[in-house]
Amino acid sequence: MTRIKIWDPVVRIFHWSLVGGFAANALFVDSESNLHLMIGYAIIMLVAVRLVWGFVGSQYARFTSFPPSANDAMAQVQDMVTGRVTIHKGHTPLGALMIYNLLFTLAVIGLSGWLMTTDMFWGVEWPEELHEVAVSWAEFSVVLHIAAVIFESIRTHVNLPRAMVTGYKDIP
Ligand code: HEM
Ligand code: HEM
Repeated sequence: MTRIKIWDPVVRIFHWSLVGGFAANALFVDSESNLHLMIGYAIIMLVAVRLVWGFVGSQYARFTSFPPSANDAMAQVQDMVTGRVTIHKGHTPLGALMIYNLLFTLAVIGLSGWLMTTDMFWGVEWPEELHEVAVSWAEFSVVLHIAAVIFESIRTHVNLPRAMVTGYKDIP
């Protein structure tokens, strides 16, 4: 077993705060309340910080360490189908695509949500519709994200959720 430090505190705090905020706004908090807006702004801040951190953060937090690649993602799908195990120290190729999808979708949710609060777009329908569609897409993506994390953890014997808590991956 090799223990490697992968995720810095910014990535970990970002992730679990995002999970809490997203779950709260999607499932528990009244969408017409002030709390919904406060949590929404906090999520916008989190995503903004993460985008900056993708350029200046530690090695595995940087976007250059997980570039979007259809070829690499296909190779990972093949691994999943054939049972071959390739260990990725940072984000896996499929994980990378999901992360860009989630960050982009969260930005759309934040922007459309904020537009609804402005004088100019108050009562205009499309920001509300965009907000709803983006939230549904994010919920679908999150279910897939969690399923993939569990599947890959079992398959590769690397506990990915624990690594997102402790920062360390234990690689067999
Ligand atoms: C990830 C974060 C967020 C999630 C999961 C979320 C989710 C939702 C959901 C499920 C609704 C109800 C849609 C409906 O009426 O069917 C809603 C409405 C709304 N959201 Fe968000 N939202 C988020 C972020 C934000 C942000 C950042 C803002 C503003 C800065 C915002 C402002 C609003 C407003 C103004 C409404 C309409 C409230 C109403 O029903 O009158 N949301 N949101
Ligand atoms: C209990 C639920 C969740 C678990 C166990 C989980 C687990 C993980 C794990 C293990 C990673 C690293 C993946 C890898 O090794 O490539 C990750 C990354 C990520 N997850 Fe989740 N996740 C959960 C929920 C969510 C939710 C609700 C969101 C967003 C709405 C989310 C957004 C992200 C993002 C943006 C990253 C990239 C982290 C970064 O590089 O900053 N996750 N998640």
